[in-house]
Amino acid sequence: MAVRVGVLGATGAVGQRLIQHLEPHPDFDIAALTASDSSAGKTYRQAAKWRVDSPIPNDIGEMTVTATEPGEVPDDVDLLFSSLPSSIGAEVEPDFCEAGYVVSSNSSNSRMADDVPLVIPEINAEHLDLIEVQRDERGWDGALVKNPNCSTITFVPTLAAIAEYGLEKVHVSTLQAVSGAGYDGVSSMEIIDNAIPYIGSEEDKLETESRKLLGEFDGAELSHNEMSVSASCNRIPTIDGHLENVWVETEDELTPADAAEAMRSFPSLDLRSSPEQLIHVFGEPDRPQPRMDRTVGGGMAIAAGGLQETPFGLQYNCLAHNTIRGAAGASMLNGELLLENGYL
Ligand SMILES: NC(=O)c1ccc[n+]([C@@H]2O[C@H](COP(=O)([O-])OP(=O)(O)OC[C@H]3O[C@@H](n4cnc5c(N)ncnc54)[C@H](OP(=O)(O)O)[C@@H]3O)[C@@H](O)[C@H]2O)c1
Repeated sequence: MAVRVGVLGATGAVGQRLIQHLEPHPDFDIAALTASDSSAGKTYRQAAKWRVDSPIPNDIGEMTVTATEPGEVPDDVDLLFSSLPSSIGAEVEPDFCEAGYVVSSNSSNSRMADDVPLVIPEINAEHLDLIEVQRDERGWDGALVKNPNCSTITFVPTLAAIAEYGLEKVHVSTLQAVSGAGYDGVSSMEIIDNAIPYIGSEEDKLETESRKLLGEFDGAELSHNEMSVSASCNRIPTIDGHLENVWVETEDELTPADAAEAMRSFPSLDLRSSPEQLIHVFGEPDRPQPRMDRTVGGGMAIAAGGLQETPFGLQYNCLAHNTIRGAAGASMLNGELLLENGYL
């Protein structure tokens, strides 16, 4: 029987992608949609300015959006996908967990908390068991699980693939799509014919989340990876797909050919939304490109290319679809992992 799920922040850019992917999902049944008080009481069709590339599913369009409070969500809903602004997530996600709901969240609040699992299932599924520590410490019946920032998700799988060579120093420079800032995020006057070399708080997220994701969990505590990471984040006028240039210095010698092989053979999982191949490595020097390659693996895979040796170590480019693999798809995959691991 399908698990009854809800979407918090269902009318937003990520909420819409969640609905697009959850509605046909055989294991999940959408039973609650929440948003701000200004949307509450309207049908979803009235409340959401629908902007994704398929029509609003009919039954979803007729559902009534509620306020984002535990009392508004039916008790028989087990799993909530959260795509709220982080300031709102920080306020309400703990209330939902306390009320017994398991929350798989995109929002950046609590990602770095010691007892909150930050998970990319193919990379660190074992961190999910931090839930036991969290429940002991917070006394929750529910649980809070986070997926990382969209630009962190793009490069960390490539690092995981070469981690056995000993990651020492990582430099990453991003070229991020406008959809990453939400529909109202960057005005057209700012971004057309331009690039903006600053995205508030983004660099810190790449630098800290990557070390948590590649850290080790001993069943009680999580230690962060000791590599040093330096990030520089840029907004560019693409719609979807974050492209990143990465330089990695490793303890052991790592040739571009060995790195390509390690990335190609890095295993995916057999969760429903896992791509068959997690990392696609292009041989052409001018790939991956956002417009051409953001939908590899249905938007759930990572594309890489341009591997070469430089005085600063191995250099390569990587790309992921920021609202699918980087947001909605990421928390959906965490929902599938929660289901597979018996947390629902
Ligand atoms: N866009 C991306 O690529 C991306 C990637 C990774 C992570 N994220 C994160 O995901 C979250 C959502 O991003 P987004 O781009 O989808 O934002 P968005 O388009 O602005 O949507 C925000 C959603 O939250 C609701 N909301 C706003 N204020 C609220 C309040 N006071 N109480 C309850 N609900 C409220 C909105 O409802 P109304 O329609 O009623 O206002 C809407 O449903 C953010 O934390 C963001 O950082 C985004």
